[in-house]
This record gives sequence, structure tokens and C-alpha cells, in this order.
Amino acid sequence: GIIMYSEKVMDHFSNPRNVGEIENASGVGTVGNAKCGDIMRIYLDIDQDGVIKDCKFKTFGCGAAVATSSMATELVMGMHINEALKVTNKAVMDALDGLPPVKVHCSLLAEEAIHAALWDYAQKHNIIIEGLEQPKTDIGEEEVEEEY
Ligand code: FES
Repeated sequence: GIIMYSEKVMDHFSNPRNVGEIENASGVGTVGNAKCGDIMRIYLDIDQDGVIKDCKFKTFGCGAAVATSSMATELVMGMHINEALKVTNKAVMDALDGLPPVKVHCSLLAEEAIHAALWDYAQKHNIIIEGLEQPKTDIGEEEVEEEY
């Protein structure tokens, strides 16, 4: 059948925010979705106070993955890393007025990619971010050939 998307999902899919890369990013996270094989990479620029100054993403993924990443980058921008850690895929879906049930797994990519980027940041700076665990879906520096 036809999958119905909210207007916000369509908007973020047609006009995704913050697509691209950040050179010398404070943290980079690349994750794969075990269910479909789609891939997402998120770049974070974090200042000395732990505030996210910039956030960009690239994905080789479906429309729902594009829309959730776009929304996730908007949500975490300007947040402290401790707050950004609490941005769940549910929060991102709520901000998009929901996703069809068969597309909920797509929203996990954004949450996991943010966690992977925060993990990378913590590793590089030798700090521990309370409540953050090493993302299991992190596929590291593996080259992502196709990009959004
Ligand atoms: Fe793979 Fe949506 S189908 S992320």
C-alpha cells in the first residue's frame, strides 16, 4: 500500500537541512542500519563548553532516514552534549509529527549516529559522557561511497 508521511517529513525530505560535512569535526559518527543496510554519518562541532555549534550529516538511506537526520541535526544544534544525548529517535519522530510504523527503524540511524559522533568526541578528548555507551552500530571510518 501507499505509505503516508506527515507534511513535516515531506518538507525535511524534499529540503533537508544541514547536509554536508564538517572539516576537522570534533566528533564523527557513522552507523549502519542492520535492517536495511542504509548508512548515515553525522559530524559535530563542539566548543570548549561542550555546546554543539554545528552539525551536518550525509546519508545513503531512505527518505525517512533523510528526514529524521535533517530534523535531528536541527534539534541538537546549540545543545550541550548532555542534552543532545537525550535526543531520542522518539523525540525526533515527534518533532516530525510521526512516522509510519514500517519506517520507525529508519529514525534510529540519526539517534545512533549522534551517539557515535559524541562517542568519537569523548574518545578524542579523553572524557566520559555520563550515560553514553559505545554505539554497537558504529562502522567506523569505512568509506561511504554513495552520498545523499
Ligand atoms: Fe533504511 Fe529507512 S529503509 S533507513
